[in-house]
Amino acid sequence: MDVELLSGACGAEIAGIDLRDTSDGNIKIIKDLLFEHKVIFFRNQDITHQEQIDLSKCFGPIEKHAYVKGLPEYPEILRIVKEPFEKNNWGENWHSDVSYNPEPTLAVILKSVEIPPIGGDTMFANMELAWETLDEKIKNKVKDKKALHSSLGVAFFVDNYKGMEARDTNLEEYSNEHPIVRTHPETGKKILYVNWTYTKSIVGIDKKESDDLLTKIFKHQERLELTCRFKWTKNAVAIWDNRSVIHYAIADYFPNRGLGHRRIMDRIAIRGEKPF
Ligand code: SIN
Repeated sequence: MDVELLSGACGAEIAGIDLRDTSDGNIKIIKDLLFEHKVIFFRNQDITHQEQIDLSKCFGPIEKHAYVKGLPEYPEILRIVKEPFEKNNWGENWHSDVSYNPEPTLAVILKSVEIPPIGGDTMFANMELAWETLDEKIKNKVKDKKALHSSLGVAFFVDNYKGMEARDTNLEEYSNEHPIVRTHPETGKKILYVNWTYTKSIVGIDKKESDDLLTKIFKHQERLELTCRFKWTKNAVAIWDNRSVIHYAIADYFPNRGLGHRRIMDRIAIRGEKPF
């Protein structure tokens, strides 16, 4: 096995591991790598839909997206599609997946199916490091507080993306409160658990103070020193610990710089626990 770090903050590209091998020994190696590096990448993994599902189930129960339909034959797989004529990219701002759910995603297994020749990289930022390095005065203000996370409603997830289809659901926008600093259930580490996309306010303080604090926290957690960036190739797989990182799919589809290409990713999410 070969482990190449993507940055000093998080992320490692792993060679010499077969993701079709779901033996206890192999899964333990993958989980240990995941907890250490927060997000891990594997290239040239030409796995089938079923193999991606089998791998995902080794991490926990598969989670269905509240608003977006999965593939007809494999509803566990949410296909992220950016059509050639589109500018937007699903997941194109900093977020932690479905942080608005009562039990937000534990991990995501994302496989690249079709990628543009340039553009469409994904960035990740390490939220354990973000908590460690956050200004002490801000830490003291928020360490025992909760934040409100909103699901934003179905339109947010499908309206800008022609290739994404809404599930048959009348589910309205909903929200949940989670601790601003949560504890990783496996490692015991503290994690800064807010994100620009879904976190709307800090509970129990006035709006102005909440807005000011969140603005400072978002700026801090997006610092480039906390990040890594992955350039996709076809049949690459990323596994991220969705509790420990936020991520950002970069929609840099500008004329003559990748616009006019399709980007397709197959995403499986694993259901997590109630943050504590
Ligand atoms: C996501 O935000 O889940 C999608 C990430 C990507 O397509 O790179």
